[in-house]
Amino acid sequence: MGDRARPFSFIDPPPLVDGELRVVLAGTTPADPVKGYVPMYSFALTLRPTGKKIGEMRLRIGPDDALLYPGHIGYGVNEPHRGHHYAERACRLVTRIARVHGLTHLLLTCDPVNTASRRTIERLGARLLGLYDIPPEQEMYREGKRRVLCYRWEIGSTPLDPSPRTLPDARLKSPRPRHGIKPARNRSL
Ligand SMILES: CC(C)(COP(=O)(O)OP(=O)(O)OC[C@H]1O[C@@H](n2cnc3c(N)ncnc32)[C@H](O)[C@@H]1OP(=O)(O)O)[C@@H](O)C(=O)NCCC(=O)NCCS
Repeated sequence: MGDRARPFSFIDPPPLVDGELRVVLAGTTPADPVKGYVPMYSFALTLRPTGKKIGEMRLRIGPDDALLYPGHIGYGVNEPHRGHHYAERACRLVTRIARVHGLTHLLLTCDPVNTASRRTIERLGARLLGLYDIPPEQEMYREGKRRVLCYRWEIGSTPLDPSPRTLPDARLKSPRPRHGIKPARNRSL
């Protein structure tokens, strides 16, 4: 996280819209330091004006060492709606939230054989850090994944325009992640 000293609060995101694509908050998951989970936003990718759901996105807010394997962002676009760079466009939209949490770069990871995801990440201008073996203690390993390409995407630090509200629900507030948090075992999407 950008500032480990500040207690974490989810924000109520501003409208995240790019043409027909709208990214809608679907839920938040607090950190679970015992399991090594960092706080996570879940989104639905929807189309305007109908609101039809065409995919999903997750944004994890945490330090690089917690997210080397799952990455900060996970995404999926339903097959009939692929081919419009929706994942790339949604990634760009959610950077507005990441910046509020003090992040100036994001880690993006994918299976080396996942050409569509790899291409999506490369189109964002992310820089390849390397190919990493997934350690057996990672949840992703138990899901059968063995290696990830890890990229670093610089997102800058331009503050979010209209100032975001912190979500009022106390349940949405998670405990402060500890320094030296274990690598996250958040599911990858
Ligand atoms: C990854 C995914 C979200 C991309 O969906 P999308 O945003 O609709 O992406 P697009 O179909 O517009 O393709 C993005 C780029 O990948 C390329 N691409 C897509 N499928 C490809 C394939 N099978 N082979 C080569 N390139 C491919 C496209 O040509 C495009 O690049 P270009 O326009 O520069 O040529 C989608 O494929 C998906 O949901 N996959 C399953 C879930 C998944 O793998 N999630 C990522 C986990 S890390």
